[in-house]
Amino acid sequence: MRVLITGGTGYIGSIAVEIMRTQGFEVSILDDCSTGHADTVPTGVRFVAGSLLERTDLDQALEGVDAVLHFAGKSLVGESVEKPELYQRINVDGTRNLLDAMKSANVMKIVFSSSAATYGEPTEVPIKESSATFPTNPYGATKLAIDHMITAESKSTDLAAVSLRYFNVAGALKTDRGWLAERHNPETHLIPNILRSTVDNPVHIFGTDWATPDGTCIRDYVHVVDLIDAHIKALETLTGTGHKIYNLGSGTGYSVRQVISAAEKATNQTVPTINSPRRAGDPAVLVADISLAKKYLQWEPSRDIEKMVADTLESIQ
Ligand code: UFG
Repeated sequence: MRVLITGGTGYIGSIAVEIMRTQGFEVSILDDCSTGHADTVPTGVRFVAGSLLERTDLDQALEGVDAVLHFAGKSLVGESVEKPELYQRINVDGTRNLLDAMKSANVMKIVFSSSAATYGEPTEVPIKESSATFPTNPYGATKLAIDHMITAESKSTDLAAVSLRYFNVAGALKTDRGWLAERHNPETHLIPNILRSTVDNPVHIFGTDWATPDGTCIRDYVHVVDLIDAHIKALETLTGTGHKIYNLGSGTGYSVRQVISAAEKATNQTVPTINSPRRAGDPAVLVADISLAKKYLQWEPSRDIEKMVADTLESIQ
């Protein structure tokens, strides 16, 4: 089976490429490397250095493909507030183009990288797939618009689709070519920022006055390798038509201070921190209810926060 991995040179996409090919899938990549890195592409993997916005690139990337894992897109909440039209163009228009090209090529299976950002400020915790969706930023709004687009497409065509709503993805994967890990510039994510903090450049704790037990935000972290495992399981469920949506997290919340403690244990050093104002758009608590993914994908995350911290640490050393 040949799978097209859009965004296959990014953090999550490159790890998907590695895991899929070692499991015997044939892999094609479409990525313009605007945020990814071409040096992650393994030899022997078909790579189209192109864009979701270029139909000829899409047609070329879809040659001989049976299913698509669609990771490509813009994914920074803060940037989306500054440049909403960029998020609309790349995420929403880009996915529209992808679905049109898939239809022409008769590729009728897709697993889409959706996000917990579709829910916005949660109305219930843990968050279920049936919970209200009121995104609080353009990034989440584009992911929700795409989920709706895929639902409509699956009703009007033979498309079989799964959207996976990621909570906080972390960790890294060691390969025989070295580590595949987060290489964002600038890095905004908590775990790499904690592990890179120095006395001169301490990690900012965004808000210490939240209504949580220790005053810092609570998030649900899931190891990237567990996340990809769920994609492969989702791919296997794509028979017939229709669109299913599953949350992917661990089902357990950790506060910013708890993640810092885990890092201090792993490094045996104090993490330099600075208490800072709340970051715009951050909800206090985001924790997933993952019972649907457990039930319908027969998926269970097995790597805990210590493993996420340890792998990230090793990847940056
Ligand atoms: N945080 C800090 N200091 C930092 C970085 C983050 O205190 O230097 C805090 C944030 O305020 C937040 C938590 O750590 O409370 C996690 O922040 P991240 O930036 O690591 O992740 P987010 O929760 O903001 O966002 C991630 C993805 C989004 C996705 C969201 C869904 O980046 O794409 O999870 O849960 F939408």
